Amino acid sequence: MLIRDAQAHDLPEILAIYNEVIATSTAVYATQPSSLAERAEWLEQRRQRGFPVLVADEDGAVLGFSSFGEFRGAWNGYRYSIEHSVHVRADARGKNVGRLLVEALFPLGAALGKHVMIGAVDAANEGSIRFHERLGFARVGHFKEVGHKFDRWLDLVFMQRFLDAPGSSR
Ligand SMILES: CC(C)(COP(=O)(O)OP(=O)(O)OC[C@H]1O[C@@H](n2cnc3c(N)ncnc32)[C@H](O)[C@@H]1OP(=O)(O)O)[C@@H](O)C(=O)NCCC(=O)NCCS
Repeated sequence: MLIRDAQAHDLPEILAIYNEVIATSTAVYATQPSSLAERAEWLEQRRQRGFPVLVADEDGAVLGFSSFGEFRGAWNGYRYSIEHSVHVRADARGKNVGRLLVEALFPLGAALGKHVMIGAVDAANEGSIRFHERLGFARVGHFKEVGHKFDRWLDLVFMQRFLDAPGSSR
């Protein structure tokens, strides 16, 4: 398996993984499926801003994808923080794919001078919380009932991991 930059031809597989997560879980707070055009726009925006979109490629098939973008990008004071996402194809979970996809983001974030990587995880998604803890993320915040999906309120947990030493100078 290879972790590489996503290409336009990966978008249908990325879309299928994303839409399966949207339809079957609260891991993403979208209530409608995404579209190929929306995913293409997302990839283009990430590229234009110099942010990575990675895929796990096994013999040409996409097993998962990861990316990061700005965290609260409307305010320049947040410029050393990034927010990531990661999703693995349902039949490929629990095989280290997610770990490799997120670990590959760390040096890319550090190379861009970023200090902190943030994950926003549904509080009920214990698997993802455990996954992020295993990758060195710490729970730092818990928002009550900030999401609503499947006719219920959703709590959101923020998790963060330093990409260089805490307190390092800029
Ligand atoms: C969460 C997700 C990205 C994890 O990726 P994965 O490939 O399944 O996880 P990995 O096999 O790389 O696991 C890495 C570590 O996390 C742990 N972990 C992963 N999933 C876990 C789970 N459901 N419960 C407990 N621990 C888990 C593993 O045990 C492993 O730790 P170890 O190395 O100490 O054994 C993936 O399961 C997924 O896409 N889930 C559905 C969508 C989702 O929740 N996305 C994240 C939104 S924040």
